[in-house]
Amino acid sequence: MAYDFDKIADNYDSLNHLMTFGMDRLWRRRGAKWLTRGQWRPKCLDVAAGTGDLAFEMYRSGADEPIVCVDLSKKMLEIASNKMALETECIIADAESLPFDNGSFDCVGCAFGIRNFVHLEKGLTEMVRVLKPGGRMAILELSTPDNPMLRPFYNLYTRCIIPLLGEKIAKNREAYTYLPESIERFPKGKQMRKMLEKTGCKVRQRKIFFGVCRMYKCTKKQ
Ligand SMILES: C[S@@+](CC[C@H](N)C(=O)[O-])C[C@H]1O[C@@H](n2cnc3c(N)ncnc32)[C@H](O)[C@@H]1O
Repeated sequence: MAYDFDKIADNYDSLNHLMTFGMDRLWRRRGAKWLTRGQWRPKCLDVAAGTGDLAFEMYRSGADEPIVCVDLSKKMLEIASNKMALETECIIADAESLPFDNGSFDCVGCAFGIRNFVHLEKGLTEMVRVLKPGGRMAILELSTPDNPMLRPFYNLYTRCIIPLLGEKIAKNREAYTYLPESIERFPKGKQMRKMLEKTGCKVRQRKIFFGVCRMYKCTKKQ
């Protein structure tokens, strides 16, 4: 069963920015810029949109309004629609069964959401289905750095400091213990690229901040 983000919605944004030293905003911005590059007012979908920060970056990068936000969590989407100075259409729906016709969007983005899908391949296939041929999909996901020299620092930070921050700020140690565990279990690099290629996309991977974040740039084949 998918984790219930309603439980941590109130403190989600502040903890995110704190844990990443504000870099999460830059990572989403990078994804949004690639998605919208060279397009005039593309129609964009933010999958597992949460509190809508990727949708906001899509807007800043020139996406057409309304930007469609899909998420399972009602509370996360409420925060998204309240904080937005832009027009969004927020829909409570499962990424594994998106309520849109084939080829409905020029761009599909998903930031830090796919790690939570129950059936990853099903979710990815759905996201590509609703994308127009030639359209772009950007997936941002947290991952473990490849460099073994960085691992002790990474492990200390994610296994000790993040759960502590979760306990103190979100009053939920469990959720922030689950976070590093789910990152370690999740496919990355070549494995992820192969899975995405199977959905019918050309895929390039970019490591960001030593591979702590990865961006998969996917273009749907014509
Ligand atoms: C870590 S948050 C990411 C939120 C946001 N995209 C961001 O950039 O911060 C993960 C979000 O994925 C949503 N989610 C998990 N599984 C989902 C699914 N199958 N369909 C739609 N949303 C899902 C959760 O409700 C949660 O809001």
